Amino acid sequence: MNTSKLKLTLLASLICSLIHVNPTLQARQLDPSCYKNIPFVNSVREQTVANLAKALQFYVFKDVAKEGAQGVDLKKELEDIAMAEFLNDFQFQQRVQKIFTPLNDGHVWYQPKCYRSMNFIQAFPLTSYVDSAGDQRVYILDQPVFRQGLYNKVREVTGVNVQNFLGMEVTEIDGVPVLEALQRFADEELGKTKDPQQRFEMLLANHALTSYGQWRSFFGYWASPGIVPDKSNVTYTLQSPRHGSLKVTIPWIAIPQISLKSFWSTFGYKRLYCDPDPTSPYGMEFLNPSTLGLLPEPGPGQSDTESLSTTYINTNPLKFYQLDGNTGVLVLPTFSLGDQFTYDSFDSAMDQGLEKFRRLGIRKLILDFTNNPGGSICLGYKLLNHLFPQIPRQQLYYHSDLVRSPLSMELAKRNSLWQCSNYYNPDENSLHKGLSCMFPGTTYIRGGEQANFTQKLQYNCDFQVNRRINRKPWFQTKDVAIVTNGRCASTCSSVSNFLQRVMKVRTFVTSPFPKGTNPPISTAPGGMVFSYDNLLWQITEAGLSSREDAPKNFPQKADFYFTVMENYGWNTSLPDEYAQRPATDRIVLDESNFFSPVEVWTEISQKLNYSK
Ligand SMILES: *[C@@H]1O[C@H](CO)[C@@H](O)[C@H](O)[C@H]1NC(C)=O
Ligand SMILES: *[C@@H]1O[C@H](CO)[C@@H](O)[C@H](O)[C@H]1NC(C)=O
Ligand SMILES: *[C@@H]1O[C@H](CO)[C@@H](O)[C@H](O)[C@H]1NC(C)=O
Repeated sequence: MNTSKLKLTLLASLICSLIHVNPTLQARQLDPSCYKNIPFVNSVREQTVANLAKALQFYVFKDVAKEGAQGVDLKKELEDIAMAEFLNDFQFQQRVQKIFTPLNDGHVWYQPKCYRSMNFIQAFPLTSYVDSAGDQRVYILDQPVFRQGLYNKVREVTGVNVQNFLGMEVTEIDGVPVLEALQRFADEELGKTKDPQQRFEMLLANHALTSYGQWRSFFGYWASPGIVPDKSNVTYTLQSPRHGSLKVTIPWIAIPQISLKSFWSTFGYKRLYCDPDPTSPYGMEFLNPSTLGLLPEPGPGQSDTESLSTTYINTNPLKFYQLDGNTGVLVLPTFSLGDQFTYDSFDSAMDQGLEKFRRLGIRKLILDFTNNPGGSICLGYKLLNHLFPQIPRQQLYYHSDLVRSPLSMELAKRNSLWQCSNYYNPDENSLHKGLSCMFPGTTYIRGGEQANFTQKLQYNCDFQVNRRINRKPWFQTKDVAIVTNGRCASTCSSVSNFLQRVMKVRTFVTSPFPKGTNPPISTAPGGMVFSYDNLLWQITEAGLSSREDAPKNFPQKADFYFTVMENYGWNTSLPDEYAQRPATDRIVLDESNFFSPVEVWTEISQKLNYSK
């Protein structure tokens, strides 16, 4: 061991001693300074930047992302990073992470695993709705049985008793008027979605069904933003009914995700959590489009459960409720399949639920997709097929395309996402063969750049959607509505956009904003997200990993996700990700309907024109 390494170890144990003092602590005041002990290494930078650049050849929006005043030029950003000075590895990795935030796309993110070993949380989850005068306000979520351990930790660190402030109105954050402060935080730190109102709303706590089938409060990204904050605390100006205006400072609390002992030595920590693991084989398999959900709630983010009125058919996570004599509600919080939630269980739940609705004489249907992060696109098509069995396959499957590059053309010869035989040719209504989706391809000029893509393709979900549904169409499209809080992503977005665009179904978005253009009902309609690991796996399986243009393992552990397939629906020349439309209707949240999905559904039911 050389002396500089020795110095580093000593330094690390000193700086991290705060955390080391008491390894039994479950939480600790912010101390990300340990992270800054890991030195910047130029070869790590070079390899990271080179690999990202190679991976981005598959990223479908790198051209269109450059358009407009807020355009993002990823190539330029990577070039800047290649030239910049960094004090430590943390600073370098943060900079890489941040180039993807302004894309405002929930499908695209880079996260160094090295700096995710602590989860930083705020003890005040915030909510927002309009007051009796119709003005938008922000409040601290008042949930009595919520995170006692966290409250104790805040009291231990600062002496503040969090419970004294629950339910109060927040008027300023760090001296900035609260609406402005939250919007700025959402725009600069969160990204994730193109609509500014949706970004704002993602910070907030909300009320929804979990994928385990329970109604809960989700605390939102303000309380658990999944970032390393650069300040140790947040000062809130509050409006108390009894004491008027007051200020309270709440620290960020770090919840270690790993054993506290691991923080003791920089070398040990780096070896375990930052350095790549050359021995780990890829435990991967071929992924169907949109097997992955996104926009998960980071960190410990849910309250206790709460019961709603009895359900008719209750197959987790799918639920059918009867709202009134002629209105039924179908709640679906995810399209991600699992052991309990399979194509078959979905089919039988849909059959039973819709049959029950029919027997009850229910003619109006509300689809509640609140917080649905997406999942399998084939399951999405299945849902549409159950509701409207008359839609022909050619119309049901989205038109998509993939990047055509020398490497993707090689991948197309093997079992991979780029293999043409996975797709229908929409012009000929038959499956592609060989390399027929690549020749001729399509060339777009977007963002001032020429880019090559495949022909328009339709991913073949026949195997999953092959079941003949004999049931007659029961619901008329004018009696169907969708509701979400804007947090309906990926497959959920494709499904709701299809219903809005093709079936002309009314779409209701719940929003704390009383005015302005309606936000879209959903986000990240882009297409299919792929992980970097999965991309490397496909390249390796195809025997192409030694090619010059093939990305390799990152020099440090990192997660990287990005869009590899783009969908078209609204506009055949612009992908949906850049051409979404506002929801047709808005439900403005107030003190009462905020906590009550039943009230939201009732409002929608009244607005749907019921015809006998
Ligand atoms: C808040 O953080 C700043 C530095 O980030 C520190 O100087 C200050 O003492 C903190 N205030 C409280 C009340 O913890
Ligand atoms: C697109 O493809 C054409 C013909 O195959 C090729 O000449 C051109 O260089 C490609 N453009 C890009 C940006 O890769
Ligand atoms: C589709 O997008 C293009 C490019 O932005 C735009 O010029 C055109 O007006 C759009 N078409 C429709 C029907 O919205």
